[in-house]
Amino acid sequence: MTASLRFSTKAAPADLVGGSADGLIGRNIFDGSFPSPLVVARATAIEHNLATMSEFCRMHEAQLAPHGKTTMSPALLSRQIARGAWGVTVANVVQARTLLHHGVRRIMLANQLVNEAAIAWVSEAATHGLELYCFVDSREGLLLLDRGDARNVSVLVEIGRAGGRSGVRDLDAAVALAEEADALPSVRCVGIAGYEGVFISARNSDRQAVREYLRQLAASFERIAGLGLLDAARTPIITAGGSACFDDVVDIVGPVAKAHEAELVLRSGCYITHDSGLYEQLSPLSRHPCLPPLRPALEAIAQVMSRPEPDLALLDIGKRDVSFDEGLPVPLWRQRRSRRTAVPASWRVTKLMDQHAFLGISPTDELAVGDFVTLGISHPCTTFDKWTHILEVADDGTIVAVLATEF
Ligand SMILES: Cc1ncc(COP(=O)(O)O)c(C=O)c1O
Repeated sequence: MTASLRFSTKAAPADLVGGSADGLIGRNIFDGSFPSPLVVARATAIEHNLATMSEFCRMHEAQLAPHGKTTMSPALLSRQIARGAWGVTVANVVQARTLLHHGVRRIMLANQLVNEAAIAWVSEAATHGLELYCFVDSREGLLLLDRGDARNVSVLVEIGRAGGRSGVRDLDAAVALAEEADALPSVRCVGIAGYEGVFISARNSDRQAVREYLRQLAASFERIAGLGLLDAARTPIITAGGSACFDDVVDIVGPVAKAHEAELVLRSGCYITHDSGLYEQLSPLSRHPCLPPLRPALEAIAQVMSRPEPDLALLDIGKRDVSFDEGLPVPLWRQRRSRRTAVPASWRVTKLMDQHAFLGISPTDELAVGDFVTLGISHPCTTFDKWTHILEVADDGTIVAVLATEF
């Protein structure tokens, strides 16, 4: 990366920040030469989260194929691979292409592959070493793959549940699909897949439905494996596990994987930055005293543009810059020149518009036009995709890396 660094999907003048990524290392984000708003990632939190998740997987004999759609940052994904990731998960073939271009060879496509052109690309990409795993939940999906004759693809029967998302709805349908796969010469069925994250949310954090679903997933695997419907030449795979319930996955599915000498592959994506909202509320490591909790790594830094009323400040950050789909940003710090202080607990972002945040404060609180406010975010995926570059910073704000994203 050389000239023309852009710090968001909007045009931010490159010369405001000095042009090249290398030129930014060692500078401080509060040195007065950076535009506002910015989103930064704290290096210490990322390192901590990488180490913690890697330890969790080691303790539970699970593999990790982190979901790449969270960051789509080749630099972060290569750190996940360096920490032992089994492969990388993607949501579509465009993401798979990007990752293959960056040298990721083992990719889990956590959806059914139905597009003819995409299947043709996958088949061709065998020559670049692509080993693809994809979900399948219908006969039509199997036939499309069979027609494409993509021999480098292994399929996983996706198990769903009424009220959930994709995936077959019951055990008989799962078995029937595995039998169909078994009968097709160019299709190799290696296991089952599911996503329990569909059954939990910030509004309903009751894990009962998650655990019931995971029991159904485990039972489906036992039945399909017991019937000899998995490719005997390959290690069987069971995959599930976002960032909200990977403890339930290892607890319920782990023993079944072990009994069948199958790989249990988790697909958590958000764990790498965690957050200050949804995942702070749901993270399994808040429930597991055996490991330290994950730490929020993403912070948005905005400036006070206006103080039109005693209890209102308007910040120069909005829906274009930070996630808002799973909760509004959370005020953490205020900063005037080099003086940084924690904000009063009562401060709230009450509303986001395209380019404004409404910050409710108390009339007696000190906050002036031009002051900086640092905000935690809720749901990393929908913040990452708004930025072409995210600055990775030490705790004092010194830039240690520039993380390009490739959405
Ligand atoms: C199928 C699938 N697997 C894994 C994940 C990763 O979960 P999380 O975003 O909680 O890390 C997602 C997220 O949406 C998903 O849809």
